[in-house]
Amino acid sequence: MDCCDPIYNALHDYTRALSVALGYRDWQTRLHSERVRALSKEIGLACGLTSAELSILKIAASFHDIGKIGVPDHILMKPTELDADEWACMKQHPVIGAKIMASIEIEGAQQAAQAILHHHESFDGQGYPHGIAGEDIPICARIIAVADSYDAISVRRSYHDRRPHPEVMEILRMEAQDRTKHDPEVMKCFIRVIESGRFDLGEA
Ligand SMILES: [Fe+2]
Repeated sequence: MDCCDPIYNALHDYTRALSVALGYRDWQTRLHSERVRALSKEIGLACGLTSAELSILKIAASFHDIGKIGVPDHILMKPTELDADEWACMKQHPVIGAKIMASIEIEGAQQAAQAILHHHESFDGQGYPHGIAGEDIPICARIIAVADSYDAISVRRSYHDRRPHPEVMEILRMEAQDRTKHDPEVMKCFIRVIESGRFDLGEA
């Protein structure tokens, strides 16, 4: 992957091994992570993030789901809906992922860990794991959340077919308009990226 504000080169090099490990454990999650990273970067640029923030964003987006390494196969690979206990286990992945990233004690890792920890928070405070809201959620986490939702909704999963692009955009727009899941300002940047045609999701 391309990188980076030079100060974060070491973090980038260290985390490359994590990406390989994730691919061996769960190839689909690695592919998803690469798409989310590419879209997050475009949204970050549209939102006017600094070079340092973009570096953190790209690393955090690449590994936002690295904590799934700690989720058992029978839950991670389950082709049908998860039950309540299984969801509780799955919801630990941001916490596990943040611990993995934070254990890399080099420049930028703590900020990346915070973005990973909070990538499933909702703008209205109804997300997880901490239920924080609004601008208490790190900007990188708010951006990853939008890119993650777009990819999860639009790309074929084992339990539903790929949805057409206008339908995906409508779902995301509604989530932003009633200020529930996503930051409306980040959504504006996301919509500008998609409508500009700069980002091609391609085929999954
Ligand atoms: Fe996730």
